[in-house]
Amino acid sequence: MKILTIFGTRPEAIKMAPVITALQREPSIENVVCVTGQHRQMLDQVMDLFGLQADYDLDVMVPNQTLNGLFAKILEQSSQMLEEVKPDCVLVHGDTSTASACALAAFHQGIQVGHVEAGLRTGDIRSPFPEEMNRRMVDGVSQWMFAPTETSRQNLLKENLHGSVHVTGNTVIDALSMTCERLTAGGALASITEKRFSWLDPSRKLLLVTGHRRESFGEGFRQICAAIDQLASREDLQIVYPVHMNPQVRGIVHQTLSARSNIHLIDPLGYLDFVWFMQRADIILTDSGGVQEEAPHLGKPVLVMRDVTERPEAVLAGTVQLVGTDPKKIHGAVSRLLDDQEYCASFSRAINPYGDGLASSRIARVLSGQPVQEFIPASS
Ligand code: UD1
Ligand code: UDP
Repeated sequence: MKILTIFGTRPEAIKMAPVITALQREPSIENVVCVTGQHRQMLDQVMDLFGLQADYDLDVMVPNQTLNGLFAKILEQSSQMLEEVKPDCVLVHGDTSTASACALAAFHQGIQVGHVEAGLRTGDIRSPFPEEMNRRMVDGVSQWMFAPTETSRQNLLKENLHGSVHVTGNTVIDALSMTCERLTAGGALASITEKRFSWLDPSRKLLLVTGHRRESFGEGFRQICAAIDQLASREDLQIVYPVHMNPQVRGIVHQTLSARSNIHLIDPLGYLDFVWFMQRADIILTDSGGVQEEAPHLGKPVLVMRDVTERPEAVLAGTVQLVGTDPKKIHGAVSRLLDDQEYCASFSRAINPYGDGLASSRIARVLSGQPVQEFIPASS
């Protein structure tokens, strides 16, 4: 079977890297890799780390791209490439414009679609925007839906879709485990990384922040920045914020937060460095989907700056809390974790609702027609 694996953003690349490795191990599969380049710099960081080579690079990114302009470009260019490659299956990931445009292009050409990380839902098509809609669209045209958890399988079953559903665990845990192993093997890499970030103050607690969601642009980001600014008045705290490349995010964050000496605004980190920072952090404040899945695996408390999440498992397990973008709520939640050790410890139980490190090999086995034991979280 000839599979064309397509991705274009940072999180897709991280989560597809172990899938590509697993597909390459299957003798019955020929795997061709295409990147759309939706995220040029942040994608290339991940390609380098995992040693990934693209057979096709559509290079679609332009600064401040609009959703419609981006979608149209990817639809047109991926369509031409599909005519050339003629795959049996197009494998896409998650909820991005790359995933939805490429899945639609494949569907229009009668090519089967596989969806990695299928079935996540908030139930609100405006949040996350436009990701909830992208997910629904990709699942609607998919022959194989690789659901990370039982909850996501149940979401798909309710929608009575045409494809088959397989619970695999989330491939982000495969990527994270591989990266943690690299950091711990021999200790050399971890100590080199530590030296590079020797400006961190060992006497202060570390709050790691990421944020990029479209539905928070404008007022939401102003509120988030106000909360971070207020938190920085604490002497016992240092805040590290690798700022997403989106100009809509960088503008407001740099304008508001660059004056504080204990706020470190840095460029997006390579994945290995970011994993090191997650391990080192006391608390993580984020709106990222992937970080919500990774941090519980590392036993880190996570506060999520969203009103709803398509990843309810860790919220139910008590290691993730939704705080929205209200500055009072964010400030209150971070302060409580900093000041109440017992409360913080109750968040920090390492749990694993999202995967066991074998998701990618399950996906490769399903696609090559082999029997598969589905993912069951350890606590079930
Ligand atoms: C995209 C995805 C979102 C995913 C997020 C991960 C869509 C609709 N959204 O949102 O699902 O959670 O990526 O980060 O697909 N830029 C650069 N260099 C980069 C990356 C981005 O300059 O490496 C800038 C460009 O100006 C670009 C802008 O960021 O126009 C926005 O990027 P885009 O991919 O459209 O949206 P994201 O908000 O990153
Ligand atoms: N990440 C990274 N460098 C950073 C910030 C995040 O490598 O500076 C990783 C993070 O560990 C996670 C992924 O990028 O695996 C999440 O990307 P993002 O938040 O952009 O997208 P989302 O997960 O919300 O789709």
